[in-house]
Amino acid sequence: MPKKVNLIATSAMGLESVVAKEVKELGYEDVTVENGRVRYQTDVSGIPRSNLWLRTADRVRLVVGEFQATTFDELFEQTKALPWENFIPEDGSVPVIGKSVKSTLHSVPDCQSIVKKAIVERMKKMYGLASSRIQETGPMYRVEIALHKDIALLTIDTSGSGLHKRGYRTGQGEAPLKETLAAALVQLTNWKPDFPFVDPFCGSGTIPIEAALIGQNIAPGFNREFVSEEWDMIPYNLWEDAFNEAEEAANYDQPLDITGFDIDGRLIDIAKENAMEAGLGELITWKQMQVKDFRPQSANGYIVGNPPYGERMGDKEQVEQMYKDFGGIMKDCPSWSVYIITSHPNFEKLYGKEATKKRKLFNGFIKTDYYQYFGEHK
Ligand SMILES: C[S@@+](CC[C@H](N)C(=O)[O-])C[C@H]1O[C@@H](n2cnc3c(N)ncnc32)[C@H](O)[C@@H]1O
Repeated sequence: MPKKVNLIATSAMGLESVVAKEVKELGYEDVTVENGRVRYQTDVSGIPRSNLWLRTADRVRLVVGEFQATTFDELFEQTKALPWENFIPEDGSVPVIGKSVKSTLHSVPDCQSIVKKAIVERMKKMYGLASSRIQETGPMYRVEIALHKDIALLTIDTSGSGLHKRGYRTGQGEAPLKETLAAALVQLTNWKPDFPFVDPFCGSGTIPIEAALIGQNIAPGFNREFVSEEWDMIPYNLWEDAFNEAEEAANYDQPLDITGFDIDGRLIDIAKENAMEAGLGELITWKQMQVKDFRPQSANGYIVGNPPYGERMGDKEQVEQMYKDFGGIMKDCPSWSVYIITSHPNFEKLYGKEATKKRKLFNGFIKTDYYQYFGEHK
């Protein structure tokens, strides 16, 4: 078993620094930020801990090797030279996925099959296997060959399903936010668990649920499984330690004042179910209400919302009127901070105020801005 492992936490474009901050908070120091990924080195226990705790990363990959390759021969030989047997057992299942950007080797299917052949060759040699194929009846080791400007990066996925799959989503509305992005939206605010928190467009409840998990320091992966739980290279007690650490770190006594409302009552029912499934019981207040009727009662609150963007025909006017109504309400609540993600180009004008800060984010493939209005705390 290798003592140190090089890991990559993959990230949505625009969220790399948020992911890097989370990695550092886990205690890993040597952190490098690149486009769409954060690299760091840990001991093997970093695999369970990263998977359990990272709220904003898409998945955690284990780096096997990296080299330059401009011919299939180079790709084959250098892949075969890597110590795959340190990671993959004789019966491991080894599907290979790939991508290629700005590289001489641009045929992804060819790169995948060459990498697969090279790994099989290596395993046959190291395990002394006579047959031309490996059995692949054991645990899953999904390899990725990622070529970028002729540099080949070979990694194995340690997560299984993407980390946004927390295990609490029983249902969803039309445009649910990915859990990882919802967590990032909360982390990009200065909200602390003792301040009020409201999502006035909560849909299936993703933002309030992620806020509650953050507020009580509950590990987002606590209710799910990870593919690398089955790997021999990670002694199972390291998983037990990580789950115990998460159990001890959770602060279930932290009171929270989190509310989600939405104009659509069916979504409120789904949000309630999702919160139950997340183990949050009745911790979040859910209410069917339109934003026009919202009147903040307390001070120093935080609003984080993902309203409709008005991109669909027929929606635009209604959405624009709603942004205006919302701005009118919040004008009278200067102690509240407001954070809104939308792709609508005129949001600030309709809301009636220029944002304190803006940040470009992708919601899936939609280019959005995250408008941030800092409240003046009383
Ligand atoms: C983009 S979705 C939010 C999705 C949510 N973040 C999730 O993860 O499920 C926008 C939501 O705004 C709600 N909505 C539309 N108009 C509204 C209004 N006037 N007041 C409150 N909610 C409204 C819709 O019902 C929809 O659920």
